[in-house]
Amino acid sequence: MKEERLDHPAVEAGGPGPQAGHGSRAASKRTSAALPPRTHGGPDADGVPPWDFSTNANACGPCPHAWARVQAAVRRHYPDPTYADLRRRLADWHGVAPQRVLLAASGSEWILRFAAWCARRGLTRLWWPMPGYGDYAHAAHLWGLARASGPAQARAGWLCDPGSPLGQPEEAAAAEALLAAGAQVTLDLAYAPLRLQGEAALTERQRARCWQLHSPNKALGLTGVRAAYVLAPEDAEPGQLAELQALAPSWPVGADGVALLAAWIEPATQRWLQATHATLAQWKAALVQTLEARGWDVTASVTPFVCARPPQPLEAAALRARGVKLRDAASFGLPGWWRLSAQPPQALQALADALDAPAATAPATSRRRPPR
Ligand SMILES: Cc1ncc(COP(=O)(O)O)c(C=O)c1O
Repeated sequence: MKEERLDHPAVEAGGPGPQAGHGSRAASKRTSAALPPRTHGGPDADGVPPWDFSTNANACGPCPHAWARVQAAVRRHYPDPTYADLRRRLADWHGVAPQRVLLAASGSEWILRFAAWCARRGLTRLWWPMPGYGDYAHAAHLWGLARASGPAQARAGWLCDPGSPLGQPEEAAAAEALLAAGAQVTLDLAYAPLRLQGEAALTERQRARCWQLHSPNKALGLTGVRAAYVLAPEDAEPGQLAELQALAPSWPVGADGVALLAAWIEPATQRWLQATHATLAQWKAALVQTLEARGWDVTASVTPFVCARPPQPLEAAALRARGVKLRDAASFGLPGWWRLSAQPPQALQALADALDAPAATAPATSRRRPPR
C-alpha cells in the first residue's frame, strides 16, 4: 500500500465554495439550485446492494446486543424531551458533566446545525478537511460560509479523525492551528471506534476544546438507526450550549436512537466492537490484496476502508448490475478513485468475480467517467 497522503485538487486550487465575507444574509440569496446534490454510499434507487463495499458501516454488524436493544425500544411514547437519563449515562461514561452532552438526530444533522450556529454567530470563515465528508462543504455552502485560506485564518470548522474517504488520521498541524486561532471546532469522531491502528491525532487536551461528535451507528453496523451525540468543549458557555440546543428540533432522537445510544456504552457492546477489529483487519488485508493483484493503487489507511484507483476506468453500472457497489470518490474531489470497505469473504469473492468480468472496465482509450 502507498504511504503518501493524497493531495486534493480543490485544495491546491484554493478550495471550492463561496468566497469569503458573505455571511448568512448572502446565503439566503443563493438558490438551492446552486448546491450540488449530496452523494452517499449504501442503498440507492435499486435498493440495498447485495455486496455493499460503498458504506463504512462495520461489516461484522449489526452488533447483536445493540440490535436487541433497538428492537425492544418502546416507540409508543415521546422520549423525554431533555433526554436527562441518557445524557447522564453518556456523561458518566465519558467522565464529563451531563450539561456537556447534546443529542443530535444524526452526525449529519449536527454538521448542519453547527454551520447554522456559526452563521448566527458571524463566524464566516471555516476550515474542513479536503478530501472529506461532503456534508461539511455542503453545510458551509448552504449558510454562505467561506472556506478559510488556512486553518489559522478560520473562525470555526470541522476536523475528522480518522477521516473519510481516506481513513487517515487528521492533520495534527491543522488541528493545532485551528485551536490556536480560538476557532469553534467540531471534531467528527464517526470512525474513531473503527480505528484499527494508531492513536488519536488530537491530544486529550485538544479534544476537550472541541465539540466532539460521536455517531456510533457505523461502528455498530446499524446505520439505519439515526442518532448521535456531542460532547461540548469543557469551556463552552451556557449561552452557546443553549443556542445549539435551541437550533435542534424538539425530540431530535426517536426511541430506537435512544436505545442505540444507551446500548453503545454498555460493556457487551464495547466487547463486541473490540472483537470485530481483528476480523475487520483480516478482511481489509484480503481486500487490499484482491485490489493490488488486479493492478489497483491502494492508499494506506488506519480504518477498515481504503481509497483505491483501478488501472482502467471502472464501469460501476456493470458492477452494480452484479450486486456489487463501490463508493465513487469523485465527489470527494478524487476522480478515478473509489472507496471500499472491508467485507466478508463471500462479498470479496463477488467483487473479485465482478472485477474480472470483461464488462467491469471501460476501454482504456475512452477514459469515460463512471456513472454515479
Ligand atoms: C465522516 C462522517 N461523519 C458523519 C457522518 C454522518 O453520519 P450519520 O449521519 O449517519 O450519523 C458520516 C456518514 O457517512 C461520515 O462519513
